[in-house]
Amino acid sequence: MTNHISIRQKINNFSKKIKVSSDKSISIRSILLASQAVGISKISNLLESEDVLNSLKTIKKLGINFTKHKNIYSIHGFGLNGFSIKKKTVLNAGNSGTLARLILGLLVRSKSKVKLIGDKSLSKRDFSRVIKPLELFGVKIESKNNKLPIKILGTDFLRPIKYKENIGSAQVKTCIIFSALNTPGITEIYSKNSRNHTELMLKYLNYPIKVTKKFGYQKISIQGLRQFKCFKYNVPGDISSASFFIVLTLLSENSKMVIEKVNVNESRIGIISILNKMGANIKLKNKKIYNGEKIADIYIKSKNNLNSINCPSKLNSSAIDEFLIIFLVAAKAKGISKFRDLGEMNKKESKRLDLAVKFLRLIGIKVERFKNNINIHGKPDLTLSKSFEMKNFLKDHRIFFLSCITALTLGGKWKIYDKDSINTSFPEFLKILRKIGAKIN
Ligand code: S3P
Repeated sequence: MTNHISIRQKINNFSKKIKVSSDKSISIRSILLASQAVGISKISNLLESEDVLNSLKTIKKLGINFTKHKNIYSIHGFGLNGFSIKKKTVLNAGNSGTLARLILGLLVRSKSKVKLIGDKSLSKRDFSRVIKPLELFGVKIESKNNKLPIKILGTDFLRPIKYKENIGSAQVKTCIIFSALNTPGITEIYSKNSRNHTELMLKYLNYPIKVTKKFGYQKISIQGLRQFKCFKYNVPGDISSASFFIVLTLLSENSKMVIEKVNVNESRIGIISILNKMGANIKLKNKKIYNGEKIADIYIKSKNNLNSINCPSKLNSSAIDEFLIIFLVAAKAKGISKFRDLGEMNKKESKRLDLAVKFLRLIGIKVERFKNNINIHGKPDLTLSKSFEMKNFLKDHRIFFLSCITALTLGGKWKIYDKDSINTSFPEFLKILRKIGAKIN
């Protein structure tokens, strides 16, 4: 079966209201926390993507059952450390860095060794960032070069730690928080800004977790070994998935769009701040608070004359998965856009900073690269007519989405491979594009 699509024309004007797939970070966290709760948690609108289905398979292998009825998953938890782990258990996190790093935090009391594996892309990623704090808790880890496969053996003699998390990684922070849940005493994390869904969810569950600001860090204190009850959660739309439709609308002609019920947590909406600084007029309406998370409808209109940006790096963590598509806007903006300190982009599902530079040059944009900083020389009149073939990008879903949005807004004749990568995070992507009028073969 072919695993590519072809796009040979731009999208026509549209005016649409859509919903995007549910939030991936929140879906994974809700499953993993339900696996530690006492009783049956009910989660509706769970994202049914590969990363999330792998999370469900993972807890099942650890002895936690779940059922699905209509739109609701019921997850049967037995409380903290309530896994029953068979000998020689192998967990496969597939493509998901989030699942792999978070599940390690829930295995810190495992009495038998558990092996964690992943796909080709995940097996290239660095795990030293979680191995270091896990070892400080007292956990035994075996791995070659800090990469998967990893074997983890827990202990009954965990000790709480004080840890400085300097990367600004929510995966590392959450791995430590999850370890702390199973550890006696109070664990303290000084963490650089990153998405805070875990903290909000634990607060919603009345778990004893305290977050304050100290010396430019978030100080998070977690009291370990407190059981919490099962819960209900309704997962909102994913801003990372919405971002591709935001840019599609912005760069198309005479078009507008409303994206309903998207999670607009401050730690996630860097893309909106960045694009509005570039002259877009993206609005959030019907704001609501749900279980500590902000949800809103996003209103976008096309905009012709966008300006370049000198992007403040304090926005990096809140837009870390969106820079690929933000760079496309910079390619169409007037002037030179500057982005700094984006080394973390190269630690994702593929080396996204390297690939972004290659991609922008491929479509005729001048890019200067100095280590982790890039300058993008925008061309407001940029249109494409050549043929492009997108292949070999480690099946990175977000590079696939970027290629489609580029084809639909700038033109050219595109053959884009690894269509299946959309199943990682946004299985509805092509269906929604077609609904708003995109011609995709
Ligand atoms: C995620 C955190 C981010 C992000 C990833 C999802 C999460 O990674 O890139 O797609 O759900 O915690 P880092 O925490 O490594 O920055």
